[in-house]
Amino acid sequence: MYSELVLNDEPKAVLSETIRTLRTNLQFASVDKELHTILITSSMPGEGKSFIAANLAVAFAQSGSKVLLVDCDIRKGRQHYIFGSHNKKGLSNLLLEDIKTKYNEYINETKIKNLSVMFRGMTPPNPSELLGSDKNKELVSILKANYDIVIYDSAPINAGLTDSLIMSRLVDGVVIVSACKSTPKNLLMNTKKSLQNVNANILGVVLNRANGGAKKYYGHYYG
Ligand SMILES: Nc1ncnc2c1ncn2[C@@H]1O[C@H](COP(=O)(O)OP(=O)(O)OP(=O)(O)O)[C@@H](O)[C@H]1O
Ligand SMILES: [Mg+2]
Repeated sequence: MYSELVLNDEPKAVLSETIRTLRTNLQFASVDKELHTILITSSMPGEGKSFIAANLAVAFAQSGSKVLLVDCDIRKGRQHYIFGSHNKKGLSNLLLEDIKTKYNEYINETKIKNLSVMFRGMTPPNPSELLGSDKNKELVSILKANYDIVIYDSAPINAGLTDSLIMSRLVDGVVIVSACKSTPKNLLMNTKKSLQNVNANILGVVLNRANGGAKKYYGHYYG
């Protein structure tokens, strides 16, 4: 149905099991601490943030939670593509509106039970300012109050962008995706340091590796 949503299309694939383990670990991580909003980020482009964010969102939805996936990579996000939709309006457009009364109009239902998605919207001239605005902060808490879990797909950190660092301060926890064979270790360490510098709550690292065609899925989770 959705070609990259392996959790939905191939629930028995090894990667589906791995993502379910990630979900379980995150559920355990939230026993004492509030964990309703999770940012998925990484050091470099193409490490699998969007892929993992979408599949993790499916995993939470399959466990019965009411889930919202938000594409906050407002420069290059492609969740609309993953969900076979268009990006006519999304987060960046919503942030120009009265969010309290309008946010619902920017949330799309999916064919997966319990899972809704907000796409990124048009690319604005000032993505970092938009994400760092009081309005975005307010939106994060409105969405949190209305969903059990909100998963944010984000931009890479080492591209010199502050977008994900800004977002990391607004969420309960951050998961770092790392393409295990291609991400230089020093980049991963820089990402960790940058997140620590802004006091982000790092939950763990997903070692991800896409090897060849979309039918081969690999991934491990390290807390
Ligand atoms: N574990 C995996 N198995 C199979 N394919 C994968 C896996 N992880 C990622 N991919 C594929 O690799 C490509 C890049 O992944 P994705 O778009 O999720 O990366 P990204 O980190 O979000 O990139 P960007 O920084 O550009 O947003 C996509 O085609 C995706 O389907
Ligand atoms: Mg992406």
